[in-house]
Amino acid sequence: MATIAPAGPQSEIDLYSDEVLLDPFATYGQLRDLGGAVYLPKVDAWFVGRYGDVRSALNNWKLFSSDKGIGLNAVINKAWNEALICQDPPVHTERRRLINEALGPRSLKTVEDTVRARAGDLVDRLLAKGEFDGVADFAHDLPINVVMDLIGWPLDIRPRLLKFADGSWNAAGPVGTRMESGLGQLEQMMGLIAEIYDENRLVPGGFAAQLVDAAHAGLITRETAIGMLAGYVVAAFETTISAMASGLWLFAQNPSEWDKLRSNPGLAMQAANEIVRIESPIQNFARFVTDDAVMGDRTIIPANSWAIVSYGSANRDEWQFSEPDRFCIDRKERQNLGFGFGPHGCAGQGLARMELTAVFTALAERVERISLTGVPVRSLNNVTRAFERLPVRFTPAR
Ligand code: HEM
Repeated sequence: MATIAPAGPQSEIDLYSDEVLLDPFATYGQLRDLGGAVYLPKVDAWFVGRYGDVRSALNNWKLFSSDKGIGLNAVINKAWNEALICQDPPVHTERRRLINEALGPRSLKTVEDTVRARAGDLVDRLLAKGEFDGVADFAHDLPINVVMDLIGWPLDIRPRLLKFADGSWNAAGPVGTRMESGLGQLEQMMGLIAEIYDENRLVPGGFAAQLVDAAHAGLITRETAIGMLAGYVVAAFETTISAMASGLWLFAQNPSEWDKLRSNPGLAMQAANEIVRIESPIQNFARFVTDDAVMGDRTIIPANSWAIVSYGSANRDEWQFSEPDRFCIDRKERQNLGFGFGPHGCAGQGLARMELTAVFTALAERVERISLTGVPVRSLNNVTRAFERLPVRFTPAR
């Protein structure tokens, strides 16, 4: 970590305390009010939280570089140095091409019917069940069954992969116990993926097998293939699972928005985007600032500093979104940054939107009310915003 004497605004706020992680939005607002970038001595990094600055930073890889890593500690940045998200062009461009096709519209078209059918079955099953957990029983279903099929993970390792993926983003936070627990999980996950790779156990024809083929053809190394395979796990599961469960929670608390979707299920894709905006499953990643970076309000982040680029804060910026704390599925402003932006913009956003749209359409067609039957439990994480448990009941539509 670079230690730079800051000249701009600074704050003693601990962005990674339990209290802030539980509900970060008021803190983000305070930091946005202080300036376009705010130095946080506790983590020796600059918080970038205004929409315009976040968008520009994400689109300027030369100034806000990813190739020193996107985490706030040296251990994860070294461990993760083969991940796609930790590359700059031209290496990033070449590797991204390898997964763009797998996750592109042509390939997704072939699974649309499967996703839709699975979403309908899921809702029918849970209607019959009565009370259930919105995370384990609902949000896990499509990612584990459909997406793991697409990627081509062997069946027997799926539960272990999911367990390692859950919470592994903690490793990208500042040094501390939460970060160390995430690192332990990540190491076990990397070990398991290396084993699967070496034993050639990936299902032929899946997204993962395409990376293995690229390695066997000499286009990438074994280590790069394993790093990119791990990316498929950490990027694809906790994020989508978070958005699915957050959607239930949001609709349970906003019955008028549910009625809106019920009367027009065609809004399901917009609803998916609004869930990703307001809850932002990935809240922050870091970038290394390679030269003095001037924010919209002229605050300067000095060269060789770390910046925390906050999707979660940008998505609640009142200068960009009217009533940003209100869940509104047909809001006019559409350009949210929950899937990122620029060269690293989420490679799986088409698939994630397809899963969310299918599930919320199936719900809108069959469910009158979504109700919480107990107190939700959040899982505190340095990077993601998610629930550990969400007790829910569906009331069937008549
Ligand atoms: C609601 C679900 C999801 C959310 C909110 C989400 C969000 C994000 C965000 C914020 C980034 C960083 C973008 C940036 O810095 O500009 C990202 C990158 C990425 N995501 Fe997603 N994601 C989701 C689902 C998925 C799925 C289902 C997959 C794959 C099957 C996936 C694969 C990736 C990959 C590979 C990257 C790295 C892209 C790169 O570095 O070029 N994501 N995602």
